[in-house]
Amino acid sequence: MQTVHYETRDDVAVIHMNRPPVNSLGHPLRKDLHEAIARALADASVKALVVTGTDKAFSGGADISEFGGPLPSTEPRLASVIEQMESADKPIVAAISGICLGGGLELALGAHERVAHVQARIGLPEVKLGILPGGGGTQRLPRLVGLKRALTMITEGLIVRASTLSDTRLFAQVVDEDIVSAAIQTARELAAKGAPYRRVRDIDMDEPNAQAILDECRQKLAGSKDKAMQLAQQNCLESVAGTVNLPFSKGLEQERALINMLMESSQSKALRHIFFAERAVTKIPGVAADTPIRDISRVGVIGAGTMGGGIAMSMLNAGIPVTLVEATQQALDRGVAIIERNYENTASKGRITAEDVQKRMALLTPSLAYEDLSDADLVIEAVFEDMDVKKSVFGKLDAICKSGAILASNTSYLNIDELAATTSRPGDVLGLHFFSPANVMKLLEIVRGDKTSNEVLTTCMSLARRIGKIAVVAGVCDGFIGNRMVARYTAAAHGLVVQGAAPQQVDQALEAYGFSMGPLRMGDLAGLDIGYATRKRYKASAPDQWYPHIADDLVEQGRLGQKSGSGWYRYEPGNRQAIPDPQAEEIIRQFRQRLGVSPRVVTDEEVVARCVGALINEGARILEEGIALRPSDIDVVYLNGYAFPRQHGGPMFYADQIGLDKVLADLQRFCSEPGAKSWWQPASLIVSLVNESKSLSQWQKERA
Ligand code: NAI
Repeated sequence: MQTVHYETRDDVAVIHMNRPPVNSLGHPLRKDLHEAIARALADASVKALVVTGTDKAFSGGADISEFGGPLPSTEPRLASVIEQMESADKPIVAAISGICLGGGLELALGAHERVAHVQARIGLPEVKLGILPGGGGTQRLPRLVGLKRALTMITEGLIVRASTLSDTRLFAQVVDEDIVSAAIQTARELAAKGAPYRRVRDIDMDEPNAQAILDECRQKLAGSKDKAMQLAQQNCLESVAGTVNLPFSKGLEQERALINMLMESSQSKALRHIFFAERAVTKIPGVAADTPIRDISRVGVIGAGTMGGGIAMSMLNAGIPVTLVEATQQALDRGVAIIERNYENTASKGRITAEDVQKRMALLTPSLAYEDLSDADLVIEAVFEDMDVKKSVFGKLDAICKSGAILASNTSYLNIDELAATTSRPGDVLGLHFFSPANVMKLLEIVRGDKTSNEVLTTCMSLARRIGKIAVVAGVCDGFIGNRMVARYTAAAHGLVVQGAAPQQVDQALEAYGFSMGPLRMGDLAGLDIGYATRKRYKASAPDQWYPHIADDLVEQGRLGQKSGSGWYRYEPGNRQAIPDPQAEEIIRQFRQRLGVSPRVVTDEEVVARCVGALINEGARILEEGIALRPSDIDVVYLNGYAFPRQHGGPMFYADQIGLDKVLADLQRFCSEPGAKSWWQPASLIVSLVNESKSLSQWQKERA
């Protein structure tokens, strides 16, 4: 397919890039563009060239599916097209609208001038994939926008409107009209003046404070907490510094060496994995792309507590009217007041206007009557986590809601099929598991019941996009993907304390691995009584499988976590800092004694191996059972719902990085400890992949 359209307008050749959706600069487009430029340069009747894209995109940049290892080497490479443009003996003007990012901006920097639409979005966001702009961007952008601005744009990966750069030398014109006509005019003016045409590479960096600016940036980056982007940020800085310290050609060589090094870095591999993983979640095997989507114009939310309020806000933020139903006037008033207060707080920080607050609140209809849900296209239940309460809610909804309405539960653990069975329309029932705070957290687990129809599933996937969430499909089981895995992770952490680690050692080891908060501090924050209540219920239903739990001893001595001033740690009033507490250590000591455990030395490495190993093992079981569709979906859940450190790419990606054989060897070692066999039993998927010398990502590719 032709990816470039060529036309002449009198003496100007206009080359339109057209490779949907965003003119990514993969080989087909580079090749066609190179040929079109050569054709114009060879045509004596052409005096100047304009290179442009579509309204939506000049170009979104490199085709990252070409990123395997080092930079794509099939000619013409991006650098060759840029070189062809820059050294042309006819003037070339880039006409930019829509997005002009990464390689797209680097391409435009190869032109002799640029004309942009005011709304065009400009940036070099490569750092967000753990790399740097490797097509000369770090060498050319500073020559046009100045060192300081370029450093900020490149090290932070900022994307800005063209209008904000109109005071720089980047654009000859920033216009609010037809950019191609404006670019043709600029191209003719350049042609009239005659050669030589200004090449960005020839512009001197005249920045008297260069060293001070570089030092300031170096200092800022040294304090950066973003471990996923840190290495790339530092390399971006060093590459940009080349514009000050090196001649252009040497600067380019250095840029290339730095990007090739980054391409091989574990951080960049992880960030690129995340990029693809977040795109792969939308592909649901067995669901046709043309599955009809139901219209969702009004949503009902039941329960105005922590979750219901946040879910309602997610809808209101996207302009979707919500009917919010509560059991009592008091709970309803409280819930609505919290929503309003949240909006007012956001407005006071300048993130939304007072008018936005009014508009959103006007879309909200509070009610005590389930009958008010009769016109809702989707109802999400967020009442107490109790099967009987939820069943009675679903019974009422079935009687009241119109035909075709989707009935969803926000349950964290309960069986969606059981809920669906209480209705006459199980195909319209599914789980929509939001994460707290629901208006902020990006993750949405969409729990597909046995009978959930493809239409209902697709409609909810599309709604998730509309409200800015990343949706991952999960099957029915206790805790779905995320909570089922986190239970194992937390239990592994508790097990380490029983064996001899201090709570602070467990937390610090996992924080050093990259979690912003270790599991025990997290337990204190969430409240230890939540797990306690679950375990009590579990003990009542399956007494033979119950075992003594160390956190129960803490709760039974009134240590509920931060809210009671003590848990695994103690807390000063009004202060969230976790302070190691000899009283907690004494409770732990007595627990060990009661169980006959002699404490042993635990290494930090072991803490990570056990806690992350528990996640990986449970993740593999979840895959075997078909609860998650692919390993990368589990990573998306963990990165967006449980703050898994991005530099490791998610638990399943990390398993591949350290090697499944190592994971298996660890699990087998833990398994051989007395009493640990069933808990640490390696998932058969891990065993079989190790036998076949395959990684999880190979397994995923083979099944795609
Ligand atoms: P919550 O206790 O803050 O709110 C529940 C609300 O439901 C209360 O305001 C209550 O008055 C109302 N309610 C109870 N029965 C009702 C009925 N029959 N009709 C109308 N309203 C009724 O609870 P939270 O934390 O919001 O949890 C709600 C659901 O969301 C639970 O199923 C929970 O497992 C799930 N969930 C909770 C998360 C969390 O972090 N809190 C995260 C994800 C899911």
